[in-house]
Amino acid sequence: MEDKKKVIFSGIQPSGDLTLGNYLGAIKNWIKLQDQYDCFFCVVDLHAITVKQVPADLRRRTLEVLAIYIASGIDCDKNTLFIQSHVPAHSEASWLLTCSTYMGELSRMTQFKDKSQKMGDSISAGLLNYPTLMAADILLYNTNLVPVGKDQKQHLELARDLAQRFNNAYSPTFVVPEPYIADTGAKIMDLQEPTKKMSKSSDNPNSFILIMDSPEVIRKKISRAVTDSIGVVNYTNDQPGVKNLIDIICAIKGCAPEDVVKSYQGKGYADFKKDVAEIIIEELTPVQAKVKELLGNKNYLEDIYKKGAEKASYVALKTLRKMQKKIGLIPR
Ligand code: TYM
Repeated sequence: MEDKKKVIFSGIQPSGDLTLGNYLGAIKNWIKLQDQYDCFFCVVDLHAITVKQVPADLRRRTLEVLAIYIASGIDCDKNTLFIQSHVPAHSEASWLLTCSTYMGELSRMTQFKDKSQKMGDSISAGLLNYPTLMAADILLYNTNLVPVGKDQKQHLELARDLAQRFNNAYSPTFVVPEPYIADTGAKIMDLQEPTKKMSKSSDNPNSFILIMDSPEVIRKKISRAVTDSIGVVNYTNDQPGVKNLIDIICAIKGCAPEDVVKSYQGKGYADFKKDVAEIIIEELTPVQAKVKELLGNKNYLEDIYKKGAEKASYVALKTLRKMQKKIGLIPR
């Protein structure tokens, strides 16, 4: 008998237009892994509302994120693609896990500290509880592997702790998931402040490349990317801007930083940046065309997310029922 495939779960928030960081840190790895695993790829709309969203924008982006998954090469027949809020088990499991998550664990999260600092007094409890919802996402599917960028590592550690805590408090219930963080592309940096992560929530559009940016915009943003006065293409921490551009090439092309450095010996930043822009454009142009085509066919997308929610609900509900029973809730 064929061995049962191991399970992957991952997701992206439709809280802003997706960036090259989301593409290289997450989606591109999902594509590589999709044949070997049973994959659940989710558009995590409930996570997006932990910060205020304009309803029409949230709806548009939710569909666009789904279209980007498919356009990038995620096979929607082999994998389960769905929208988080369509599977209510996520919210329910999240509450059950919230009751065994410690305040200290949540308030210590780097991302919570960063985001809440910008919000003054009106920090929503959702922002604090966000990692517990993420743990619910992952644990409901008996997930073995979670392919994410580096910034999600701490959240994943909490998911592992909560799984172990529940298993110890009751009896073995959850698989303890492992992170999958690739060697290249796991942390694409801000183009204007290359010591910071590239983020879709940044206020400065020159700091990120969007998956849907036009070739002209990509050329402009890369030409304005902050480098340094050293003037030599090298892969070192002293040149974080250049290092980041090399990382982008490597994550797209699957090559090693040394090879990139070698091929730019004796050349300046202008030539280098021109090539970086063209490599990004070549990668994103076919994705953009497919996204536009898919967004023109809403019925097709609806079919995919409805089927996805059905398949996901089946697995998620089984786990949720187990959790409820073990905790002592009376079966309905
Ligand atoms: P989100 O929406 O912030 O980012 C989605 C994915 O993109 C990765 N990423 C990056 N990778 C490299 N360089 C960057 N600059 C960069 N920016 C973002 C993230 O690491 C992530 O993999 N909480 C998650 C969403 C989530 C989730 C989950 C992920 C909810 N439930 C369950 C995995 C499993 C988040 O906010 O990702």
